[in-house]
Amino acid sequence: MIASLITPLITPLPTHADPLPSGTGFLSEDLQARQADEAANPGMLWVDEGARLWQSPQGATGASCASCHGDATTSMRGIATRYPAVDATSGALLNLEDRINLCRTRHQKAEPYPYESDPLLGLTAYVARQSLGLPMDVETGGAAAPFYAAGEAFFHRRQGQLNLSCAQCHDDNAGRSLRGDTISHGLGNGYPAYRLEWQSLGSLQRRLRSCSFGVRAVQFDYGSPDYLALELYLAKRAQGVAIETPAIRR
Ligand code: HEC
Ligand code: HEC
Repeated sequence: MIASLITPLITPLPTHADPLPSGTGFLSEDLQARQADEAANPGMLWVDEGARLWQSPQGATGASCASCHGDATTSMRGIATRYPAVDATSGALLNLEDRINLCRTRHQKAEPYPYESDPLLGLTAYVARQSLGLPMDVETGGAAAPFYAAGEAFFHRRQGQLNLSCAQCHDDNAGRSLRGDTISHGLGNGYPAYRLEWQSLGSLQRRLRSCSFGVRAVQFDYGSPDYLALELYLAKRAQGVAIETPAIRR
């Protein structure tokens, strides 16, 4: 099945160097330039909205993010490299979106933002942007170990009508073309990312839902434990890869 779907390119496949190459390297030069240019990268609109929300008083406490965390350029620098991470209080695995929503409910006494809403995408992109260029470095031992194991198993499990695992595309066939796209190593270091197909910024989980759909497998709900564990595994695969949020993707 896979042989009929995937067309080999003439160029040699990238080797599995450590760290793995970011998906940005598989874009056209034009898109790479747009991503790098803050004035031309459409994802920066969400980052700007996130910067505005950072200062905005919210919830029963009337506190803004800035009330507690001050200047994000220093307080949030490097934070996104460590996510997903286990929350010490609850023991739950949190991605950056969940962590921000937990600050809303726990510290601002406000409603959590829905997944894929512009405010949540904006704040997530704004916080992640403060780690631009810093290498991913998540914790996978200790309390995170069971989540990591679940994510790793998910990545290697065959699924859907096409009976393909994530690894069969993103490890075995990275660098090859599939329906006009070049398959990357499936890293999350550019998310939330602006995808041309969406005409919007979207979370890593939105991308994962696209891949699940692509193999006609179950699309898990946003925030599901399955995708969260998978996000942790992907973050570890991206160990040492620089954060590029908001990336541009086709
Ligand atoms: C009332 C104070 C308060 C407010 C308001 C607040 N936070 Fe927090 N935030 C905390 C505390 C305390 C922690 C440490 C974890 C915990 O105890 O929940 C934290 C943790 C975090 C972390 C994780 C930091 C790390 O080292 O892993 C992020 C990201 C974050 N907050 C973002 C935000 C954003 C975005 C907002 C606004 C939507 C916000 N916070 C509002 C107090 C606050
Ligand atoms: C049939 C092949 C195929 C399978 C199976 C597949 N994907 Fe993908 N995936 C793609 C293609 C094609 C893209 C878009 C091009 C790219 O960025 O790799 C993509 C994109 C991604 C991206 C975005 C990478 C970036 O830099 O923007 C991630 C992350 C990802 N996949 C993870 C997964 C995970 C996790 C699974 C298993 C649940 C999976 N994929 C299953 C083909 C596949």
